[in-house]
Amino acid sequence: MFETTIDTSSKPEMYADLVSAARGLTEGEPDGIANMANVAALIWDTLPDLNWAGFYRFDGQELVLGPFQGKPACIRIALGKGVCGTAAAERVTQCVADVHAFPGHIACDAASQSEVVVPVVHDGALIGVLDLDSPHLARFDEADVAGIEALVAAVAPRLIA
Ligand code: SME
Repeated sequence: MFETTIDTSSKPEMYADLVSAARGLTEGEPDGIANMANVAALIWDTLPDLNWAGFYRFDGQELVLGPFQGKPACIRIALGKGVCGTAAAERVTQCVADVHAFPGHIACDAASQSEVVVPVVHDGALIGVLDLDSPHLARFDEADVAGIEALVAAVAPRLIA
């Protein structure tokens, strides 16, 4: 049984603990899909104010829905489309305070108000993206972006399917 008691009152400390928990959860496991599933569940279980947390995998052509927590979501996203496709195409984190103001935003869950998408890249290859949605406007700040990017960097080599 895995139990986490991560203190969410300080973001830098919380993300440091999250990175360490994610490293522990994925250590020695070669199956990237299983690792994505556990990392999505860990994020969902730890971060407050989310309504969706999970991965889209790059299949060499487009993004395909991967392990996640939250409501069922759109399955395929072309590179350059929506927040996820933009993060994947540009390989740059997209932190969107108001998704309704993002041109081409793809609404999977009507509750989503803000969103952060971090590209997952390893050895120069795009593996996919990590997508977190919140029902609150401007849920994610610079400390969240830094923390989520650190988390992705720590586990990216273990997310290869
Ligand atoms: N909103 C995303 C689509 C994925 S869902 O939020 C889970 C986008 O615009 O790419």
